[in-house]
Amino acid sequence: MTEHDRDIPQNLSEVQQILLDWYRQNARDLPWRHTRDPYRILVSEVMLQQTQVDRVIPKYHAFLEAFPDVEALAQAPTSEVIRLWSGLGYNRRAVNLQRAATAVVEQYGGEFPAYVDALERLPGIGPYTAGAIACFAFEQDVGFLDTNINRLLHRVLIGPEVPEQARTRRQMQGIVSNIVPAGHGWEWGQTLIEFGALQCTARKPACLTCPLQQHCAAFPEIQTVVAELQRTGFRRKQEEAFEGSNRYYRGQVLRVLQSTDASNGEITLTELGPRVIDNYAQEHTDWLRSVVDGLARDGLVEIAEDTPRYDAEPDPRLKLPGHPPPEST
Ligand code: ADE
Repeated sequence: MTEHDRDIPQNLSEVQQILLDWYRQNARDLPWRHTRDPYRILVSEVMLQQTQVDRVIPKYHAFLEAFPDVEALAQAPTSEVIRLWSGLGYNRRAVNLQRAATAVVEQYGGEFPAYVDALERLPGIGPYTAGAIACFAFEQDVGFLDTNINRLLHRVLIGPEVPEQARTRRQMQGIVSNIVPAGHGWEWGQTLIEFGALQCTARKPACLTCPLQQHCAAFPEIQTVVAELQRTGFRRKQEEAFEGSNRYYRGQVLRVLQSTDASNGEITLTELGPRVIDNYAQEHTDWLRSVVDGLARDGLVEIAEDTPRYDAEPDPRLKLPGHPPPEST
């Protein structure tokens, strides 16, 4: 018996079948569902990480017209990549995407590796994107987790995720990896994404029309729980919690910078991460960067960035303002 067995229901195959049937009847016809080209899947997944499907579709087509394959993206001027990214926000993602393309060209002769481990070693590709490429391009039976998939599996298998999740993200990762219906990984991955986007949404889950009512651990209470949270200021509470934790982490960053033992008072973002949170991982980079950017905007931190190298993640150096510059040798 593994750690996850307690969460995996006896009637798993029935649950899988209901969800797959639902997908066949309700899935949207989206352009990236017509391809198995890992490059196109990567582009779509990176775009979808921050932007709604409707807004991604025209950008996806325009981007691929400009950069039809991984070589074209790797060779393009970064300024041009960013130009085609405009409207999607978070330009850093475009730069990271190009960096991943360059690594695929340089390390793999332009052929994407097919396995999660190798994909995850590409710059800027975290566990979710690596899993999505292995699944959607190479049709592997792998499970992967984003916020929506996490929420819906928690509801169906464990119970309401609010006010607090009863399983850690790591436990949810174990579950999602263990419930992929053999031979149907591609469809299953799209099903979880689609069900989370259309049916089992965060604030207004459509429980009354849900085909999983009889099988869902959250069904008896989720609507009451969500309605109650909305009535008592779910949004405000969430924002307060976020601000609270953001303030906390701003303080942590400053504390680390004050105590840094480097002679020039500098520390890189990568060095900072593990000193600010336990289990620091690549997927935290964007978040940590946003905390540091906020401190820089308020004049509390100075950021020095080297010209990005294509073969490496950017790793800005940080220091407290007014700290003497490094001695030139
Ligand atoms: N969001 C992330 N991946 C997606 C996909 N394949 N389809 C729709 N929305 C998504």
